[in-house]
Amino acid sequence: MDKLVIRGGNPLVGTVRVSGAKNAALPAMAAALLTDEPVILENIPQVRDIVTERNLLAAMGAEVELGYGRAQHRTTISCSNLVNEEAAYDLVRTMRASTLVLGPLVARSGHARVSLPGGCAIGARPIDLHIKGLEKLGARITQEHGYIDARADRLKGARIVFEKITVTGTEDLLMAATLAEGETLLENCACEPEVVDLAELLIKMGARIAGAGTRTIRVQGVEKLNGARHRIIPDRIEAGTFIVAAALTGGDLTVAACDPQHLGALLSKLDECGVHVATTPDSVRIVSGGPLKAADVVTEEYPGFPTDMQAQYMALATQAEGASLITENIFENRYMHAQELVRMGANIKIDGRRAVVRGKTPLSGAAVLASDLRASASLVLAALVADGETIIDRVYHLDRGYERIEEKLRSAGAQIRRIGELIPRRAPAAVESD
Ligand code: EPZ
Repeated sequence: MDKLVIRGGNPLVGTVRVSGAKNAALPAMAAALLTDEPVILENIPQVRDIVTERNLLAAMGAEVELGYGRAQHRTTISCSNLVNEEAAYDLVRTMRASTLVLGPLVARSGHARVSLPGGCAIGARPIDLHIKGLEKLGARITQEHGYIDARADRLKGARIVFEKITVTGTEDLLMAATLAEGETLLENCACEPEVVDLAELLIKMGARIAGAGTRTIRVQGVEKLNGARHRIIPDRIEAGTFIVAAALTGGDLTVAACDPQHLGALLSKLDECGVHVATTPDSVRIVSGGPLKAADVVTEEYPGFPTDMQAQYMALATQAEGASLITENIFENRYMHAQELVRMGANIKIDGRRAVVRGKTPLSGAAVLASDLRASASLVLAALVADGETIIDRVYHLDRGYERIEEKLRSAGAQIRRIGELIPRRAPAAVESD
């Protein structure tokens, strides 16, 4: 399995370009199931989860062309001849977002058989709210042998109030409602930019949607959707990861091809830490200032501080003067990175959903283990400021959501390289979070 070897100490200087958002690309690819016409998506990140999504759709009979060369960030998906409506366990267990095919499949084909995702490194993460919503739309749902089986002649519009704000739950039901008979009212929705981006694609496909980006979305169902061409938004979490890397290492870095509007909570928190940035409509420049100051953070649904930046923020807090209290409100087990940071010399105490990080503590290079996508990103950030060499194992987690991260960091002056086994073994299909 590939490892990353990082020698800390270099400030980051120059420009790194952000790729398209994994968490916008995945629902957009699933949305192609709603029509028999081609859907062309641009700015698709070249990450492992996209390949998994391609395999998932191809297994149903979809033609999925992942571009290469100049078109490497474009994909064309045609679902005109679906041969089965099944998302198999082997794929779903490697990527939970596979469950996003549930709503589109039952809406378009009247049937979907989707494996339940099972446990996850960062929390239980059930999909009960997806299922309850589909039942509200009239789907008959049974569960057996680890699979959800959903059937409906045609879904019927309904009022759905989410008990909890759920990103993929909102996306799944939004897609299902586009082909339902009559009006659907979705309340207590997620407002993440990825939800808004999906709604924009669906509207281009002919859907009638109002209110995406607010807690209440209204959908007028239509008989049929058509094909469309859509550019995926930039990855705000990848952008946030590079911004924190620059704040940690010092230097002068411009994070380009991102949308600062999507980074409000992170940038204002960094401002509290003494990190001042300059933004343009599509970039953020971080010039190192004085010492980092500790600041408490609570993860929340958008537009609050994103849980997907919590681990990276913890790495920053190890280098801030004072004690930072971190409260993880979204997932119940999202501190797997903390013990690995402690192995590098950090001072972190965990108490349930709270973590107290005391800094500034010098970090030293060590052999550490990545446990999930964002945890691995925080280990990379810590290694960039650690004394000596850090070896990060199981970086297949990182490859799931970051496109060529070591090349991008190296282009900004980081001492980072990937070492792989001469005869790389296939990454184990461990239960992974997404
Ligand atoms: C999305 O996951 C993202 N994944 C996650 O990013 C992100 O951490 C999360 O939203 C929160 O922002 C994708 O978009 C593919 P949720 P999702 O449903 O939709 C509970 C990354 O690093 N819940 O909003 O699965 C759930 O357990 C990944 O890129 C239910 O109880 O998250 C959690 O506590 C990690 N029942 C909370 O709601 C349900 O049916 C929010 O989860 C659904 C969710």
